[in-house]
Amino acid sequence: MSSVHKYRRLSSFYYFLASGFANEHQAVLKGRKAYHDSLKKIGDTCALLRRNTHRLEKGLIMQPRRSVFAEGFIQETVDCYKEAVKSTQLAGSEKKWATDVLDEYFKIVGSTPVTDKARQTYLASRETQPEKFDLIAEFPSHDDSYKPYSYERLPDSSVSFSDLKKLFIRRRSVRWYQDKHVPLELVQKAANIASFAPSACNRQPYRFFFCNEKEKAVAIAKCAGGTAGFAENLPAIIAIVGDLSAYPYERDRHLIYIDGSLAAMQLMLALETLGLSTCSINWPEVDASERKLRKVIKLKDYERVVMLLAVGYADAEGGIPYSQKKENALILEDIS
Ligand SMILES: Cc1cc2nc3c(=O)[nH]c(=O)nc-3n(C[C@H](O)[C@H](O)[C@H](O)COP(=O)(O)O)c2cc1C
Repeated sequence: MSSVHKYRRLSSFYYFLASGFANEHQAVLKGRKAYHDSLKKIGDTCALLRRNTHRLEKGLIMQPRRSVFAEGFIQETVDCYKEAVKSTQLAGSEKKWATDVLDEYFKIVGSTPVTDKARQTYLASRETQPEKFDLIAEFPSHDDSYKPYSYERLPDSSVSFSDLKKLFIRRRSVRWYQDKHVPLELVQKAANIASFAPSACNRQPYRFFFCNEKEKAVAIAKCAGGTAGFAENLPAIIAIVGDLSAYPYERDRHLIYIDGSLAAMQLMLALETLGLSTCSINWPEVDASERKLRKVIKLKDYERVVMLLAVGYADAEGGIPYSQKKENALILEDIS
C-alpha cells in the first residue's frame, strides 16, 4: 500500500475516533437536507434559483453567445421558478431578478425540444406583477430591469488608489472602545453595501447577526477564546454566520467561509467609513464554544459561525498593535 493510501486510511480511522470534525460533518449533512427541503417550500431566498439565474446571466454575456445554451439546467430552473413565484416569503428583488433574466433568456434562446418545454413551463407560471420591494442600491441597468448590462454603464469611481490605501491603513483591529451606543441604522447601511461582495454563484450564503445590547454583546464575545481581557468593553458585536443549506453537495462546504469572509471584509471597510471601528474575532472549532453561543443566538443546525466582529467607536487613547505586514516578495510571486 502506498504511503498516501496508508495515510488516508489512518486519518479516516483517526477522525472516526476523534470528534474534531463532528459538528462540521453534522452541519454539512443537515445543510444538504435543508437544501432539498427548501425546494419543496421556498422561503425568503432560494439558493438554487439564485445559482441558476446567475448561470443564465453568464450564458447571456458569453462571447460569442451560443444560440442555444443552458439546456442542461433550464427545466430545473423553471420548475424551481414555478415554486418560487408561489412563495409569499421570497424576496421581491430575488423574484424580479429571476423573472427579468428568464424573460431575456427565452427572448433570445433558440428553439429545441428542451427549451420549448421549459418556455411553456415558464410562461404558464411567469410572475406578471412582481411585488414592490426596497432597492438596497442602484445597479446601472437598462429600463429598471435586472439583467446583464454592459461594463460601460458602470458608474465611475472617484476612489483613488491613495484614498483606498488611507482607508486600508485606517482600518485596524480595534479592541478598546468608547462606552457609546452603536446605532443599528449605521450597521444596516454598511451591511447593505457589504453585500456587493463577490460570492460563489451569487448565493450570498451568510447572515450578519448584530447586537448592540452591551450585556448580550459581551456574552457573545466571551464565547470565543480570543477576547480575553477586552470582551467586557465591547459595546456591540456582529456574528457572521454561514448557511450550509445553500448547497446540495459537500464539495461546496467551504464557500460559507470564503463568501462570509469576503463580505466581512467589505463590512469592516464600510463601517470604517461611517466612523466605526472593528476587530475580527476568531471563531474556534470548539464544541463548548459552539454550545455556549447557540444559547445566546438562535442558529439553525446548518448555520455555522464564520467569525465574530467587535464594532464600536474607538477609544482615541486605546492602543493599536503595530502588526507589521509581510513584504511584497513574501506575498506575491510572479509565476508568468
Ligand atoms: C479570522 C480572524 C480572526 C481573528 N481573531 C482575533 C481574536 O480572536 N482576537 C483578537 O484580538 N484579534 C483577532 N483578530 C485580529 C488580528 O489579530 C488582526 O487582524 C491582526 O493582528 C492584524 O492586525 P490589523 O487587523 O490591525 O491589521 C483576528 C483576525 C482575523 C482575520
